[in-house]
Amino acid sequence: MERLQDYNPLLLYAVGVATLCLFYFLFRGDSEKAVPYNVAPPEQVMSGWKGEVLQDLSMKVSGSSSIQCYAPATGESLGRVNPSTTSSIDRAIAKAADAQIQWAQTTFAERRKVLKTMLRFVLENQETIARVACLDSGKTMVDASLGEILVTVEKLRWVIAHGEDSLRNESRPGNLLMAYKWHEVMWQPLGVVAACVSWNYPFHNLISPVIASIFAGNAIIVKGSENTAWSSSYFASIATSALVACGHSSDIVQSVVCWPSVAEYLTSHPGIAHITFIGSRPVAHHVCASASKALTPVCVELGGKDPAIVLDDLSNSDFHRVSSILMRGVFQSAGQNCIGIERIIALPNVYNRLIEQLTPRITALRPGSILNTSPDDASIDIGACISDAGFSRLESLIADAVAQGARLICGGKRYVHPQHPKGHFFAPTFLVDVTASMKIAQEELFAPVFTLMRTSSVDEAIAIANSTPYALGASVYGSSNHDLERVVREVHAGMVAVNDFAVTYMVQLPFGGVKGSGYGRFAGQEGLRSVCNQKAVTRDRWPWLAKTSIPGPMDLPLKGEGAGQRAWKMACGVVWVGYGDLRGKVTGVKNLIGL
Ligand SMILES: *[C@@H]1O[C@H](CO)[C@@H](O)[C@H](O)[C@H]1NC(C)=O
Repeated sequence: MERLQDYNPLLLYAVGVATLCLFYFLFRGDSEKAVPYNVAPPEQVMSGWKGEVLQDLSMKVSGSSSIQCYAPATGESLGRVNPSTTSSIDRAIAKAADAQIQWAQTTFAERRKVLKTMLRFVLENQETIARVACLDSGKTMVDASLGEILVTVEKLRWVIAHGEDSLRNESRPGNLLMAYKWHEVMWQPLGVVAACVSWNYPFHNLISPVIASIFAGNAIIVKGSENTAWSSSYFASIATSALVACGHSSDIVQSVVCWPSVAEYLTSHPGIAHITFIGSRPVAHHVCASASKALTPVCVELGGKDPAIVLDDLSNSDFHRVSSILMRGVFQSAGQNCIGIERIIALPNVYNRLIEQLTPRITALRPGSILNTSPDDASIDIGACISDAGFSRLESLIADAVAQGARLICGGKRYVHPQHPKGHFFAPTFLVDVTASMKIAQEELFAPVFTLMRTSSVDEAIAIANSTPYALGASVYGSSNHDLERVVREVHAGMVAVNDFAVTYMVQLPFGGVKGSGYGRFAGQEGLRSVCNQKAVTRDRWPWLAKTSIPGPMDLPLKGEGAGQRAWKMACGVVWVGYGDLRGKVTGVKNLIGL
């Protein structure tokens, strides 16, 4: 019989170590594992809830400063919210600043753990979150699944997977003159940042800047719109409760809701290091003017007049697919989408086919409310608008276009829903033969209006696409790579999707526009870095060997400097110039022989 001591002791040792390693990898705890937590959902999303239908749909309450919240699809009251005052904003910023000092010291692993905790919560509570967003904004469950849940989950997943890489110190190339140095850029937290966001995605717009800002080590004051004041506190507590569940201070994320006059106090506050603004152009002028008082940088995300160019060579097999994508692009969230498709610019071979194919589909769209209907009730295609304030303008833009030769196929005016007469519905509209000179082709509508424009060539399609003051997103559909790529290059836009709609956001590419659509980028690496101080650092590589001294010709001759020293400095200068010359010659030779 073999005995244990017959084996090579080294082998036994190795087997022992390997077993221990295996046990370690199998049974070690995941230090970033999500922690379960609860946030009580608002009573209004419980099944069977019914609210009082308000007679006068207004956010203002006479004799009170509070905000009257209501469901725009039905007019049911959701309760009142007390807005923040200037002194409560001061307190929120002070608390956030205090908490940020410790938060900035946390590791990326600790921050990832908070995001993984939030991700788990969002996945487990997606239906409640979607219903809250639907109630407050009037959208449908499908729109909420895509525009609130899917994009938020993807943002969390992306930051968890790639956030640290995006903010890793990056070394940068130097030059021969500075060869004794190394150079790097580091992305450090800014302190307390702010986000003022719009109502069209009450959950996603509010939580998305929170995710990026806290991952970068900042604290954040997030101001949701007064239009969706009701859901802000529930959505913000998803973030604060995740922080608390992971052992951090809830003060890192502060939600405020206020009237515009008080918002100015926030945007001009010297305690705010950066502002992300998602909203409309008129409001952006106020925000930027106000931020300029404290010289606070603003990332300005405004609307657009996004074109979808449909080329002539769109294949038959792709036709139905693309017309469905166009409908989603136009009617998602009842058209209240900053990157919603506002103009469909089609070439002659597809133009009439699009009208033929889309007329029955758009005419059949059924507006409605998800309130008091079960989630699998498929009788609703399109939700309400946030308010009816813009309906008269819309109706007159459409009437004006018709007077100038456009054809109205369906819709064109506000819609009184038989069950929800107080709801803010606009009839799904199909308007064709629109030309670039019509006002409706120039102004952002933010409404469920499918505007079809005819064009005769790719040249003209691009010219029409570029004819508005806006340049946010764009999309192009067709087969020929040559034409598709031409549109990609020449269209004025911050984001372009080829044969698809808005998917740049789904993969966290930088989000933002140019021209009248704003400036700055959020999402992805560029977004994360934009809420950081991009600190440039240069250090001596071998401090014991070489440090900067001013070379010969630039140096003032020091008293007592010998001729030898002067000659040496001059020689260094000559070597440097010679090197530049040599590099030029090498490049010249390389070009000559086609390398
Ligand atoms: C970047 O470099 C600094 C200084 O070496 C270091 O303290 C810091 O932890 C580094 N940051 C990251 C994100 O690696």
